[in-house]
Amino acid sequence: MSSHAALPADAATGVPKVRFDRITKCFGKGAEAVQALEPVTLDIAEGAFTCLLGPSGCGKSTLLNILAGFERPTAGEVFMDGQPVQGPDPRRGVVFQQGALFTWMNVRDNVAFGPLATGKSQAEAGRIADRFLEMVGLAGFARRYPYELSGGMQQRVGIARALANDPEILLMDEPFAALDAQTRELLQEEIKRIWHETRKTVLWITHSIDEALFLATDIAVMSARPGRIKATFRPEFARSSDPSVVTSPEFARMKAQIFGLLREEALAAQRQEAA
Ligand SMILES: Nc1ncnc2c1ncn2[C@@H]1O[C@H](COP(=O)(O)OP(=O)(O)OP(=O)(O)O)[C@@H](O)[C@H]1O
Ligand SMILES: [Mg+2]
Repeated sequence: MSSHAALPADAATGVPKVRFDRITKCFGKGAEAVQALEPVTLDIAEGAFTCLLGPSGCGKSTLLNILAGFERPTAGEVFMDGQPVQGPDPRRGVVFQQGALFTWMNVRDNVAFGPLATGKSQAEAGRIADRFLEMVGLAGFARRYPYELSGGMQQRVGIARALANDPEILLMDEPFAALDAQTRELLQEEIKRIWHETRKTVLWITHSIDEALFLATDIAVMSARPGRIKATFRPEFARSSDPSVVTSPEFARMKAQIFGLLREEALAAQRQEAA
């Protein structure tokens, strides 16, 4: 149980959908201890699409797992709607880097699984599955099994499965990392369309600055381990559904700025690992 009280609801400013409040995380003990996160404080507004960028090993997944409720912070607290996160909750849907589909179920049953588990009838769960498979462009593959799908299609089923539970927040840890560049770009456009349609709050981890700039309303750049928030950005490109936003001078300017920050941190991480 947490000793922290819920944050008071503030009628004037509103409570953020998510608040990481001075989160630290240390794995292990004594000489083996790894300080993964320094105090991280970050607010996520309802409906925001927040991307975390940072060098490998800086604590991005740790932060996401703490919000998912899979990990407990060493100190600090994460709040959703002002309530401390105590463990996994269907209001937070997680999409993993790869598949994590039930191999013995067809695509439709994979997507219908969540709604069925929360008490929907077979017919209703099936309708929900059909709706989200349509949304991710896989209506024609409902009866196939995961092994019959490409990596990108499996990822889309994973996204449909998370959406079918109607979560308030989607947590995605490098969901497109294993995909080729072209598939990735098409899926980014699809994700943007889905986000425009559903207006879910999203926390998204990526190593791609372009992906972050294309999708995010908010970008948090993290430092090398122990991770902290080094800088935040508010790009405007996510609001546009025109894929050519990536060619604008403003996009290039912000990309160069983030690239510089990330390079410094990647070098710091490299020095750390060599030490
Ligand atoms: N369960 C664990 N036990 C021990 N150490 C861990 C554990 N999980 C993460 N770590 C350590 O915490 C640090 C942060 O790991 P994390 O996976 O959050 O990084 P990341 O930013 O997601 O990296 P990547 O970009 O490579 O996925 C790393 O040094 C890692 O070795
Ligand atoms: Mg990670």
